[in-house]
Amino acid sequence: MLTMSGDLLTDLSSAEVADLADRFGTPFYLYDADVLSRRIARVRAAFHGLANVYFAVKANPNLELLRAIRDVADGLDISSAGELEQACLAGYDTDAISFAGPAKTSEELRAAVEKRVGAISVESIRELHQIVGHARTLGVKAGITVRVNPNQGVKAFGMKMGGRPIQFGVDEGEIGEIMGLVGENSDTLDFRGIHVYAGSQCFDFTGMADCVNDTLRIALEVEASTGHPCRFINLGGGFGISHGDPEKELDVEALGTALDPVLRRVTDGGRRQVACELGRYLAADAGVYVTRVISEKTSHGKSFFMVDGGLNHHLMAAGTFGTGLRTNYVLRNLTRPDAPSIKCNIAGPSCNLTDLMGVNVDVSAPELGDLIGFGKSGSYGFTASPFLFLGHPTPAELIRRNGKVTLARAPRSITDFN
Ligand SMILES: Cc1ncc(COP(=O)(O)O)c(C=O)c1O
Repeated sequence: MLTMSGDLLTDLSSAEVADLADRFGTPFYLYDADVLSRRIARVRAAFHGLANVYFAVKANPNLELLRAIRDVADGLDISSAGELEQACLAGYDTDAISFAGPAKTSEELRAAVEKRVGAISVESIRELHQIVGHARTLGVKAGITVRVNPNQGVKAFGMKMGGRPIQFGVDEGEIGEIMGLVGENSDTLDFRGIHVYAGSQCFDFTGMADCVNDTLRIALEVEASTGHPCRFINLGGGFGISHGDPEKELDVEALGTALDPVLRRVTDGGRRQVACELGRYLAADAGVYVTRVISEKTSHGKSFFMVDGGLNHHLMAAGTFGTGLRTNYVLRNLTRPDAPSIKCNIAGPSCNLTDLMGVNVDVSAPELGDLIGFGKSGSYGFTASPFLFLGHPTPAELIRRNGKVTLARAPRSITDFN
């Protein structure tokens, strides 16, 4: 059961985790849907109800998890026809879906038009023509936003995805041209507004507020210069969390307070809808990855403990997915949390130098068979990992709702993919 700290990793008792390992085997992911729901509610409250909160499916597309938050999330951000199918299976209203990505195929655009995705985020003039073609063929109006690559980059983003030459969105200088085409095809296009996703891992709420203000400026300028109302402004995401430091994250309450006056003015009593689309800020805390110590050795005086899952299931914890500097994830010996701490290395099963889940890390001295948990693993975990590499089974994915744990996705063998 969850105790008072509210942190999934800290609150997992030795008895509970041993029971889960007995029932479902190791390694496994455990997602807590209630933790994810609470994060969504927290962000909504921080924005005083002035911004809708969309969940970025790419962060964790587990079907049961998507189903579990359906009544709490205002919508979804998707990045492929596969994620669209997953969203439909989970029962989402496609009108509350934003579809972004620099390389959407014509088939994917057709599926999005056909399934009436509310905001297909147009990232190039070519895409716009393809959407118009599909909408005409299908005899429907396609809901679109224009994704803009703003002139202004935001220094505060750890990963900058705007304000420079980049494959995402339409350059701010090209908005006039694309909006001209939107106007010419308004019989087949339902222009909803503007989308900016300028980066990820922003820890500084003032930097994030600058980015939001810039997005709102662009939307209002488009509206004023073209006469097309921006009824939907997608502010993107990228609210930062640290995988290594449980305390370090963007101050969402300070951000909401700083933005309150401008959001009140722009939303204008519901005339315009504003949304953010968040992945890691919502889901990271809602997941742990649990492995078992299966071997140990000393090499050149350094202590190594080998566990039964590594970068094949959790590439980001090994530091090689979208991270510049490698940092250890918060990890814990869940079997004997009170044992004296030692410095050691935790290695995964791959024949790859980088398969280290902990480097020179402090952990309660492990023994063979102990369960080691990695916190903040609810986002970009299994979904962002090369799970066929070396042919180990995939991890079980478990979901906890109201304290009860069930199997959300069973392990698969390499031969299931033949
Ligand atoms: C368009 C878009 N929206 C949302 C996200 C989610 O970002 P984050 O998990 O940093 O909040 C991403 C991540 O790459 C993205 O590309």
